[in-house]
Amino acid sequence: MCGIVGYVGHRQACPIIIKGLHRLEYRGYDSAGVAIVDQSGEIGLYKCKGKVSDLERFLDGKATESTIGIGHTRWATHGAPNDANAHPHFSSSGRLALIHNGIIENFRVLKDALKSHGYEFRSSTDSEVLVNLIEYIQDTNGCSLEEAVRMALRQVVGAYAIAVIERGVSDRIIAARESSPMAIGIGEGEYFLSSDASSIIDYTHNFVYLNDGEVAVIEKGKPLQIKNLSGEMSHVDIQKLELSISQLEKGGYPHFMLKEIHEQPDTIVDCIRGRVNPDTKEVILSGVLDNQDKFLKAGRIIFVACGTSWHASLIGEHLIENLCRIPVEVEYASEFRYRNPIIRKDDVVIAVSQSGETADTLAAVEIARREGAFVYGICNVIGSSIARATASGTYIHVGPEIGVASTKAFTGQVTVMAMLALVIGKLRGTIEEEKYHKVAQALLDLPDTLRKALDCSKNLENFAKIFTYAHNFIYLGRGYNYPTALEGALKLKEISYIHAEGLPAAEMKHGPIALIDAEMPTVVIATLDRTYEKTVSNIEEIKARGGKIIAVISQGDTQLRKRADYCIEVPSTEECLMPIVSIIPLQLLAYYVATCKGRNVDQPRNLAKSVTVE
Ligand code: G6P
Repeated sequence: MCGIVGYVGHRQACPIIIKGLHRLEYRGYDSAGVAIVDQSGEIGLYKCKGKVSDLERFLDGKATESTIGIGHTRWATHGAPNDANAHPHFSSSGRLALIHNGIIENFRVLKDALKSHGYEFRSSTDSEVLVNLIEYIQDTNGCSLEEAVRMALRQVVGAYAIAVIERGVSDRIIAARESSPMAIGIGEGEYFLSSDASSIIDYTHNFVYLNDGEVAVIEKGKPLQIKNLSGEMSHVDIQKLELSISQLEKGGYPHFMLKEIHEQPDTIVDCIRGRVNPDTKEVILSGVLDNQDKFLKAGRIIFVACGTSWHASLIGEHLIENLCRIPVEVEYASEFRYRNPIIRKDDVVIAVSQSGETADTLAAVEIARREGAFVYGICNVIGSSIARATASGTYIHVGPEIGVASTKAFTGQVTVMAMLALVIGKLRGTIEEEKYHKVAQALLDLPDTLRKALDCSKNLENFAKIFTYAHNFIYLGRGYNYPTALEGALKLKEISYIHAEGLPAAEMKHGPIALIDAEMPTVVIATLDRTYEKTVSNIEEIKARGGKIIAVISQGDTQLRKRADYCIEVPSTEECLMPIVSIIPLQLLAYYVATCKGRNVDQPRNLAKSVTVE
């Protein structure tokens, strides 16, 4: 995790870096810092515990004029979040300053070796070891910084995106990447660098995404040079990123999360645009159609994902098994990668990731690729590592998601999975034409359906206050809505810090029902589907034990309106798309409970949006 930014050119670096860091705070926000080369050639380094706004206050009145600089916002891995462990890190002599996103796994061995050469350390981070290793190599070999970086990185095991500046050098940054993202923005005689291209979109739309094992020499006024760790030149591939600044702002909402929840009717329009034909109801996903043979002969589909993307994948499992009749497995990427999984040549592995940078998912992609499976990506961030590492894929196109709790990415992922199931089902002849057209029409209607769902949830703000007392929640659902229950529980946990557990409704009687009392609210997704009556029975069992029920029900359902303690109505759609609708009130419930409790919903404690460490 962590976010890094850099600038070299003709403008003042600090304001650019601070702005970029604010936008990267979703990647970590426990400490922040900047380093510049000042007028006299010295490195000015300023860092402190806290958020980027704390750093801004800390910088107030300090002499930070410079046209070169690097900055960092941290999510602690090695070493507590404090001033000393904040980045950038000086090398022992103070000649170099470095920022790092990732983990140097063999840092202890390297640290011991450096200590034996007399190096002393000011922090407990792995990153400080790297900057000292670079300095040591430069001193002992008398080589350039670029060469020393390459030599140091050949000794490093782990993940990194780094940027290094040098005392007396005010026109050059050396940057490198291995398994952590790094985009270089190209301006007129100036360069920007960032963990996420969108954070510097104000200045340029032209980007080069570093590949693993590449080192860049970023020099003001000179062409960008990229080499591999052996010093051989790499091709510089400039890509355009179309994104507007308004997509990165709150647009009048108090939090990004609330904005992103309310954006969903529009993000679904972007997601299905050009993919579902409103006249013919044909669904076209070029990523699938260009690789038809892979999906036609697929013996199995394996989803690999983490967090919310894993929940979306569980819905994907239902969709594909129901509409395509292909066996599906859904794996936590972190488990999959370490348990020697059986991967067959006719497996299709689908990696699902909003950021496209989650370290475990990326590693799972590599394993699947190595074993010869066809690997497909469902990502949001254009040009992200997973999007680039997969053979083909579909972007969800929901725009930048900044709130740490994922909302619009979840509905976008499920929407793509529904389209995927329709396309594959049609290719394989496992879906009836009538059903195909009905689901396609329901996809076209989804934006309106979501608008209605948001409308129905208007009074949730008042209603949520009632539940701020609770220390535990249970979320129940069945079939397509069991993953929705998991996702609803995750939203509440993430941002309100209330413990919540999602369960298949019928599993209650196998243990969890023992937890029920008047203090434990149970949220039940009980919309009118094939398991409705069974869910109603589960509700009765909880009520009989004094439990309080918050039910998400279909509009017009009078039966449950009488039985549940609190009801939230949602409009109906095709059963297989229902999770996209029923998650809306659960996102809002979590949001309002958390804001009533005074939580920072966009930056909940201990979390980061993009988990680039394992
Ligand atoms: C983190 C985020 C979650 C996200 C998960 C997977 O834990 O806080 O919101 O679902 O990573 O991220 P990805 O970008 O791979 O979807």
